Amino acid sequence: MDNVNQAGFWQQRYEKDSIGWDMGQVSPPLKAYIDQLPEAAKDQAILVPGAGNAYEVGYLHEKGFTNVTLVDFAPAPIEGFAERYPDFPAEHLICADFFDLSPEEYQFDWILEQTFFCAINPARRDEYVEKMAALLKPQGKLIGLLFDKEFGREEPPFGGSKEEYQQRFEGCFDIDIMEMSHNSYSARQGSELFVKMRAK
Ligand SMILES: C[S@@+](CC[C@H](N)C(=O)[O-])C[C@H]1O[C@@H](n2cnc3c(N)ncnc32)[C@H](O)[C@@H]1O
Repeated sequence: MDNVNQAGFWQQRYEKDSIGWDMGQVSPPLKAYIDQLPEAAKDQAILVPGAGNAYEVGYLHEKGFTNVTLVDFAPAPIEGFAERYPDFPAEHLICADFFDLSPEEYQFDWILEQTFFCAINPARRDEYVEKMAALLKPQGKLIGLLFDKEFGREEPPFGGSKEEYQQRFEGCFDIDIMEMSHNSYSARQGSELFVKMRAK
């Protein structure tokens, strides 16, 4: 299970085009969330960690969001994104381990979660929660989708439940929304929670 902590594990998946998680489009609940944001949100600092092919980042960019940062430790999807979006600021494409991001250097208004939590080793979930909270400004928001389902495998995606997430996140976050998503991508309907929480 430790191999999922290594960039090479994921880079290989991209090189072999073995990317079953990739929807090839913006996740519909996240698109709906982005679409209802006001103009005033367009200069907010946004992070998309474990972004992969980063359809959400591309969509935010197309909609005129000017301060979006993508992080992934596999170079292949970042290179692909840079080719698809040559006008996206290169300094906002960060090829690094999310867990190495320094809160002294980076502070965000909100962070978008999309099949990143389920990709990390479950032993690192508390570390994930603490790092997310540290990278957010006070009251900054973690928005996204978490599987409400167990996959029962020793490889990603690693599942979970609403009860587990409530317990894990409540120390660092006020949970505003954690409910079954009603507009998920077809293959994920009934299996993912839409979450919106604020860093304490
Ligand atoms: C399951 S994929 C999801 C990609 C994308 N969010 C999507 O929904 O298509 C997980 C992604 O997280 C990246 N990743 C996993 N652990 C990471 C870490 N510690 N730091 C940065 N990226 C990581 C992988 O390289 C991979 O691109």
